[in-house]
Amino acid sequence: MVIVYRSNTGFTREYAEMLGKAEKLKVCPLAEAQGKVGPGESVFFMGPLMAGHISGVDQAVKQFAVKGVCGVGMSPASQQVLDTLAKANYVPDAPIFYLQGGWAPKKVGWLKRRMVGMATKSMREALRDKGGRRTPEEDKQLDFLLHGGSFVAFENLETIRTWMREQQ
Ligand SMILES: Cc1cc2nc3c(=O)[nH]c(=O)nc-3n(C[C@H](O)[C@H](O)[C@H](O)COP(=O)(O)O)c2cc1C
Repeated sequence: MVIVYRSNTGFTREYAEMLGKAEKLKVCPLAEAQGKVGPGESVFFMGPLMAGHISGVDQAVKQFAVKGVCGVGMSPASQQVLDTLAKANYVPDAPIFYLQGGWAPKKVGWLKRRMVGMATKSMREALRDKGGRRTPEEDKQLDFLLHGGSFVAFENLETIRTWMREQQ
């Protein structure tokens, strides 16, 4: 299996490289995969979430034999996130995984920053309105939404690594 990924601000790349190192698999950016990854080779595709869609997944499915897919987003992992992801990103005969990456507002253009800003507006306002009654966790969440941060962690890869070992 080869790991093919797309990443705009680096979080998906971090996960792809970590996973490749741990499982001793070749890792290749989608933009460079043509010619390097054979059409018959099994691919695990990883891409950042943009408005619920796994960026690059359609191109990957057209070009390669995609056996598994992983979306990397900014929200915490949950069954609900996974269900929404599976509905919006149908990939034939391949399971879908989710990993929490991060948010890097300074690395994206103003339009994208605004789009995310609009999507998180109600959450930010609710947290702001709590003022001094915010828990330390909520303080962290508000800071993350406003200034960004990373939740990339090796432990998060466990489910995917278990699935990968079952494929051999
Ligand atoms: C325009 C835009 C839309 C996004 N939409 C979502 C989304 O629907 N769900 C989510 O969890 N994260 C969303 N994000 C956050 C990114 O998916 C997140 O920052 C991810 O870790 C980026 O990965 P990358 O660094 O590999 O590009 C969005 C970010 C941008 C810029």
